[in-house]
Amino acid sequence: MADASFLMVTCQRGAETALKNDLTAAAGWRLAFSRPGFVTFKHDSPTADWPDSPFARTRSHSVGKAQSDQLAELLDRFDGVLDGLADRHPGGFDHLHVWARDRAVVGEFSFEPHAANPLVADVAQRIYQHLTAGGRVAASEPNQTASRGQSVLDVVLVDPGQWWFGWHRAEDLPSSWPGAIPPVDAEQDVVSRAYFKLAEAVAWSQLPMRPGEHVFEIGSAPGGACQRLLELGFRVTGIDPAEMDPRVLEHRHMTHVQAHAEDLKRSVYRDARWLVVDATIKPQKTLWAVEGIVTSSEVSVRGMLLTLKLGSYERAEEIEQWTQRVRSWGYPRIAVRQLATGRREICLAASK
Ligand SMILES: C[S@@+](CC[C@H](N)C(=O)[O-])C[C@H]1O[C@@H](n2cnc3c(N)ncnc32)[C@H](O)[C@@H]1O
Repeated sequence: MADASFLMVTCQRGAETALKNDLTAAAGWRLAFSRPGFVTFKHDSPTADWPDSPFARTRSHSVGKAQSDQLAELLDRFDGVLDGLADRHPGGFDHLHVWARDRAVVGEFSFEPHAANPLVADVAQRIYQHLTAGGRVAASEPNQTASRGQSVLDVVLVDPGQWWFGWHRAEDLPSSWPGAIPPVDAEQDVVSRAYFKLAEAVAWSQLPMRPGEHVFEIGSAPGGACQRLLELGFRVTGIDPAEMDPRVLEHRHMTHVQAHAEDLKRSVYRDARWLVVDATIKPQKTLWAVEGIVTSSEVSVRGMLLTLKLGSYERAEEIEQWTQRVRSWGYPRIAVRQLATGRREICLAASK
């Protein structure tokens, strides 16, 4: 039995300090190792509960690492690590997830974490073939979405020739996806990258949104998020002073109100069941605008997905205040996450 707990976490590049502040605020957890986009922590108790943070994209029990420029040596070392886990996991693991530390800040240098990465796919296939030969993984392929409760063996490619090993149990959608990155076709024709962000936000948040309900989006142009909402079967009203893409506008369930959200009468929002906000404005202004809408007696919004732009990661300290403010409007269920497909911002999901 291990005599301590090691936690390995992947996050967006740049979010490490905010992540460390959150996780080391939990009693007994301290920083062990840090690279951009990859951080490990240690606790002296072998049974310590995992702390959480909106910036923790993945969390795994960290069980070892290997460094070599030879594939055979890396696999050999992995075998040794797995032998050490055999007592705890005698039947092996349900899944194998292999992913790489982000190579750039999301959205910069054309880096998108959800884009296909043939190099990672090739390494995943080689590790998988090696492990299935030894009966250590049950899945029929590497990097499949796990089901809730299943055990997942994790390999993070931290640098070329440097692999870190871990495992976790899938407990929600993000922890079921390899690297907590939504399994989407990044090559599909979308109006804007907000398509992927909205898709991830809806999946992650598990808000009880039903097709046919009316969703209002503030900051809707050019329309990637609306495109996804329409695909999901919602009626959509987009509010934005800028032009919407004609591919979205022509949909029969789409309405565009070309205005700044705060210039509209509250009655415009009367039919809004859900509110999505993705406007290029500061969090205080976003919250002020949303407060004016959802606290109006003319409006009955059941829940919302708010993009709150951090600008600088130092603003992460304000997340708790933002959460409390939203709660005070009568939305007790709140979750906050830096989405894999989002930029230097967080997504706040709230519902009644
Ligand atoms: C990041 S873009 C939104 C992308 C969009 N969600 C999509 O799916 O393509 C931000 C948008 O916020 C809009 N915006 C900024 N301030 C706004 C306000 N006060 N009311 C409504 N829209 C606003 C901008 O015009 C811009 O189109």
